Amino acid sequence: MIDRVFSLRPAIASDVIVIARLVEVYARDGEILPRPEGAIRESIMNWIVVTDGVRIVACGSLLPYTSKLAEIRSLVVDDSVKRKGLGTMVVRALITMARQNGFESLFALTRIVPFFEQLGFTRIDKATFPQKIWRDCCQCPIQKNCDEQAVALQLSKLNSIPCQPAFQIQGDRYESIQNK
Ligand SMILES: CC(C)(COP(=O)(O)OP(=O)(O)OC[C@H]1O[C@@H](n2cnc3c(N)ncnc32)[C@H](O)[C@@H]1OP(=O)(O)O)[C@@H](O)C(=O)NCCC(=O)NCCS
Repeated sequence: MIDRVFSLRPAIASDVIVIARLVEVYARDGEILPRPEGAIRESIMNWIVVTDGVRIVACGSLLPYTSKLAEIRSLVVDDSVKRKGLGTMVVRALITMARQNGFESLFALTRIVPFFEQLGFTRIDKATFPQKIWRDCCQCPIQKNCDEQAVALQLSKLNSIPCQPAFQIQGDRYESIQNK
């Protein structure tokens, strides 16, 4: 039995406020860094969202550091739809977006390393990304006790990654509409 149909798409300007609210919930709990509404608006071209037909239930963005390196930032899946493959779909779409824009590698700072590992990311020393340390970590109040791990993916080594623009939850997992 089909429970819900989810759609994955690039974010548009009118999504900004809803994205900001979703991100704020997880930033308040310290799971991700805060992202002010203005910063989301300025970077809206770099965001992917998943909707359930009514509301945005997942999002994620690319934050460029250099012409070759970008971070996966503000990746969030609403608690009500976690562990159904939506986070994976968002990251796959961000990987596709990064490749289309000529980035050669991606990194993320995370406490959920297994999630990134199942997408091909590998653990890497945080010091590999001095740009990140200068931009964010040096201003962070918990920098000395940070429990986040750095993970990275070399895009040049990847074969093409499938990314469905629309998919549906059947039972408790997503299934590609395009495969039907
Ligand atoms: C991390 C997050 C985006 C994962 O999204 P999700 O849609 O629940 O993840 P998926 O269903 O795509 O997970 C795919 C696989 O990743 C791994 N995984 C996902 N969440 C995990 C967790 N909390 N612990 C360990 N492994 C996990 C599992 O192998 C999972 O497969 P399984 O469900 O068959 O075991 C989501 O938990 C989230 O929004 N967390 C809060 C914000 C956050 O930490 N963002 C990441 C910051 S970089």
